[in-house]
Amino acid sequence: MKEPSSNTINAAAELLRNGGLVAFPTETVYGLGANACDPVAVRRIFEAKGRPADHPLIIHLHSPENLDFWAQDITEAGWRLAEHFWPGPLTLILKRRHAPLTVTGGQETVGIRIPDHPVALALLKAFGGGIAAPSANRFGRVSPTRAKHVRAELGDRVDLILEGGPCRVGVESTILSLVDDQPRLLRPGAISLSALQEVLGTEILTSASVGGIRAPGMLKSHYTPETRFEVYPIDDLKRRSDELAHSGIRTAVIFIGSAHRERSENPALTPFFMPDDPTEYARKLYAVLRLLDDAEFGVLLAESPPDTEAWQAVNDRLKRAGVKGEGMKY
Ligand code: TXA
Ligand code: MG
Repeated sequence: MKEPSSNTINAAAELLRNGGLVAFPTETVYGLGANACDPVAVRRIFEAKGRPADHPLIIHLHSPENLDFWAQDITEAGWRLAEHFWPGPLTLILKRRHAPLTVTGGQETVGIRIPDHPVALALLKAFGGGIAAPSANRFGRVSPTRAKHVRAELGDRVDLILEGGPCRVGVESTILSLVDDQPRLLRPGAISLSALQEVLGTEILTSASVGGIRAPGMLKSHYTPETRFEVYPIDDLKRRSDELAHSGIRTAVIFIGSAHRERSENPALTPFFMPDDPTEYARKLYAVLRLLDDAEFGVLLAESPPDTEAWQAVNDRLKRAGVKGEGMKY
C-alpha cells in the first residue's frame, strides 16, 4: 500500500477549499469529507451518498484546540474524554456553537471526533479547518474499510480518494452524547462502555438501560448487504443452513472461529470462518460482508456472537445488517 505523498495531501486540502469531496481513511472506516463550513460542498455529500438531509454528519478535527469554536458548554467531563480518547474512535455529541446546521442536519447538537490515522490527521492539518464526513458508502450500505470499497461504491461522485490501507478498527466510532444531564451511548464501537465509564466516573445510559435510545440518523436497519442476511445462535444456524442447503439455495455461513469445520461438506453451503477475537472480527466484518455480497449467494447466514461487552459493537452491526426471521436471535 502506497500512502499519499505530501503533494497529494496538499492537493486534497486544496480540493476541500474549493468545495470538492475527498474520501479519506480513518482508523474506523473511510470517510467522505467536505469543508464543514461550505454548505454547498456539504450538500454534495448528502447527494453523493443518497442520504436524507436531516441525518447529521460528524465534524473531524486534528486537535481539540478549536473544539469550543464548533461546540459550546463543554463540561470538564467532555474535555477529559477528549483528552483521554482523542485521537481515537470516539465521537462526542455536544451542544452546537458555530457548527453549521447543514452539517448537523438541523440539530442544535454536533458530533465531533479526532480520528487516529496518519493520513486523516495529515489531511486535517493541511486543510486547517473542520472536515464534515460520514462513512464513504451509499446510504444504508456497509461502511468501506478499504479505498477500493469507496471506489466501487462512489466512483466519480468523489473528487479524490486517499489511500490508507485497510482500516484498523473496521466498525464506526463509539458515539457518546453529552448534551443531557446524563451521558448517553448512541452507538457502540471500539471504545467500550466500561472504558468510557471509568474515565467519566459516572453512569452512562444505554439503550438497554432506558429501553431504547433514538438518535437522529440512527436507524434500526442499516449497514446492510444486498443479499438476504440472517443471524442465528449456533444451533439454529445449523438448522437453518441445512434447510437452505436442502432447497438448493447457495448459502454462505459465517462462523465464529473454526470449531465447525465439518460444515464444509454440503456443496450448497460455503462456510466462512471468522476470527473468534472480537477486535479481529470487527476489523474483517465489512470486507467479508462485501465479498460475500458480491459472490451471488442466495442467502448469507452468520453465527451470533456472545452477548458480552467485548462483542457489543459487532452485535450492534450484525443486528442492523440482518433481517428479522423466525427463530432468529435478533
Ligand atoms: O467512525 C466514524 O464515526 C465514521 C468515520 C468516517 O469518522 N463516520 C461515520 O459517520 O460513521 P456516519 O455519518 O456514517 O455516522 C455518524 C452517525 C450518524 O448516523 C448519526 O446517527 C450520528 O453519527 N450523529 C452525528 N451527529 C449527531 C448529532 N448531532 N446528534 C446525534 N447523532 C449524531
Ligand atoms: Mg454511515
